[in-house]
Amino acid sequence: MSNMMRTAMVTKPFTVEIVEKPVPKYGPDDVLIKVKVAGVCGSDLQLYRGTHPFRQPPAVLGHEVAGDVIAVGSNVTKLQVGNRVAVLPHIECGTCEFCQADMQNLCVNKTVPGTPKWEGTFAEYFSAPEAKTYKIADGVSYEMGALVEPLAVAVHAVSRVLSDKRGSIAILGCGTIGLLTLMVAKEFGYKRIYCTDTAPFNNEMALKCGANMALNPLETDAVEAFLKDNGGGMDVTFVAAGSPDIINHASRLTKRLGEIVLISMITKDIPVYTYGFVYNEQTLRGAMTYRNADYEKAMELINGGLDLSMFVTQNLPLSEAGSALEMLNNKSGDIIKIMINM
Ligand SMILES: NC(=O)c1ccc[n+]([C@@H]2O[C@H](COP(=O)([O-])OP(=O)(O)OC[C@H]3O[C@@H](n4cnc5c(N)ncnc54)[C@H](O)[C@@H]3O)[C@@H](O)[C@H]2O)c1
Ligand SMILES: [Zn+2]
Ligand SMILES: [Zn+2]
Repeated sequence: MSNMMRTAMVTKPFTVEIVEKPVPKYGPDDVLIKVKVAGVCGSDLQLYRGTHPFRQPPAVLGHEVAGDVIAVGSNVTKLQVGNRVAVLPHIECGTCEFCQADMQNLCVNKTVPGTPKWEGTFAEYFSAPEAKTYKIADGVSYEMGALVEPLAVAVHAVSRVLSDKRGSIAILGCGTIGLLTLMVAKEFGYKRIYCTDTAPFNNEMALKCGANMALNPLETDAVEAFLKDNGGGMDVTFVAAGSPDIINHASRLTKRLGEIVLISMITKDIPVYTYGFVYNEQTLRGAMTYRNADYEKAMELINGGLDLSMFVTQNLPLSEAGSALEMLNNKSGDIIKIMINM
């Protein structure tokens, strides 16, 4: 094996180049993985645009990954060369107050791929601690392995709901995260699911995945239509898109004492009519990535046979990583999840 590998790097904003880099070193507690599939995610788009808070060009793209273990460090005991694996791409400090409380997602000192301490996954090889590397079951594809990471975001969002009522929910925004939230909500037993998206393809996908209704909020008063169908309003509304009116829509849709889980990262000021939250005693709660336990739950769903292959809408080779980011940046075509194949 040569000690150099090909990677796809954002060398400056809006520029992706194939760059040769050394194959990553792996320590005694790590494994070296030959990457098979890497998912393209919204945060890769932010790196591409140069707007990501801590992934800045030049950096190798990618944090969603599945592949084969090809070497193991001397302390590795559970994994072997030849294992098919996916990686939980956060290394938490383990000692801060949030780590102590088992909320690794909020760790104040975590390491993630695409930063100087850990190379990204759009590369021929990727190293990861054994503790962050999970086996993919026989018969489950590498693509599904790479989807565990975004699925974990959805598992975490659903786990943020406190009420154990499993009535009606709304999901505003059915991109990758909204659709995965829909799949997880079904697994958790929610009975009626109302979706919005501005793209017809995404609404069709939501209906195929079992949504009761899926409407374009720019064409119809979706809030009114859902409330008419549903009567009393939603137990929970998940927000996975970022339009300025979206929190107000969520509040109008949600029942008294209902919960709203905000997944989308809205980094501009948007107007919020707060009285609805007071009058109806609603709770608005953020959901940030996932705890280790959420990733493990997502892995369990995938290894148990949850099929998400309909969400893989494009497959491209590493050499076309630049086109993948350009497609995502221009929103050209029907895209749920683009996979980079090595
Ligand atoms: N909290 C987290 O840990 C976390 C993790 C991943 C992504 N995110 C955020 O979640 C959001 C969704 O991510 P994604 O990867 O699914 O993105 P995406 O672009 O695939 O999905 C967004 C969807 O919203 C739709 N949309 C646009 N305007 C809308 C509107 N007014 N009403 C309804 N739908 C509308 C788009 O057509 C698109 O399908 C983003 O803001 C992303 O940054 C958060
Ligand atoms: Zn991701
Ligand atoms: Zn920590």
